[in-house]
Amino acid sequence: MSEEPSIVFRPPTREDGATIHQLVERTGVLDVNSCYLYLLLCTEFSDTCVVAEEEGALLGFTTGLRLPKRPESIFLWQIGIHPDAQGRGLGKCLVRAFLETPGARDAQVLETTISPSNAASQGLFQAIARERGAEVQVSEYFRDDHFPPGHESEEHYRIAPIR
Ligand SMILES: CC(C)(COP(=O)(O)OP(=O)(O)OC[C@H]1O[C@@H](n2cnc3c(N)ncnc32)[C@H](O)[C@@H]1OP(=O)(O)O)[C@@H](O)C(=O)NCCC(=O)NCCS
Repeated sequence: MSEEPSIVFRPPTREDGATIHQLVERTGVLDVNSCYLYLLLCTEFSDTCVVAEEEGALLGFTTGLRLPKRPESIFLWQIGIHPDAQGRGLGKCLVRAFLETPGARDAQVLETTISPSNAASQGLFQAIARERGAEVQVSEYFRDDHFPPGHESEEHYRIAPIR
C-alpha cells in the first residue's frame, strides 16, 4: 500500500484507550488485556505507540516500550489491524510509523514476540526486516507451559540493525 493520504498516523491519547481495547477483541488473535492497561499505554507510553485512523475510525494500532534492560532496543508489544483492513500494507505502514515515534527514533534493535501459528505477524516482521536489510534472530522466550493451558508459546524476534 502506498501511504494513503486519508489515513492518519498519530500518537494515541487517553480518548483512544477503550477503542483500542475493542479493536484488540475484534482481531480474535491478540491477548485481550484490561481497558485500564490500554488507557495507561495511551497516557504514559504514548511516545512509543501509534494509532492509524481514517475519518475518525480506528483502523489499527501498535503499542510498545523501551526495554530498561536493553536500552538499544524498542519492543513492539501488540499490533492490530481491523479485520476489514488487513492485507493491504497497513501493518507495514504502522510498524514504520512506530519506528519513527519520539521514543523509538534512536533505537537500533526491534524486538517483539510472535506465536508459531501467526503467519501474518511473521510475514509482517520478515517484510520489515527485508526492507531494512536487517537480520532476524528467532529464539525461545515464553513457552506454552509458562501460560495457562490453551495459550500458544511466544517466540522472541530480534531484528537488527533497523537503521
Ligand atoms: C499481523 C497484522 C498486524 C499484519 O498487518 P497487515 O496490514 O494485515 O499486513 P500487511 O498487509 O502490511 O503485510 C505485511 C507483510 O506480511 C505478509 N502477510 C500478511 N498477511 C499474511 C498472512 N496471512 N500470511 C502470510 N503473510 C502475510 C504480507 O504479504 C506482507 O509481506 P510482503 O510485503 O513481503 O508482501 C494483521 O494481520 C493483524 O492485525 N492480525 C491480527 C492481530 C495479530 O496477529 N497481531 C500480531 C501479533 S502482536
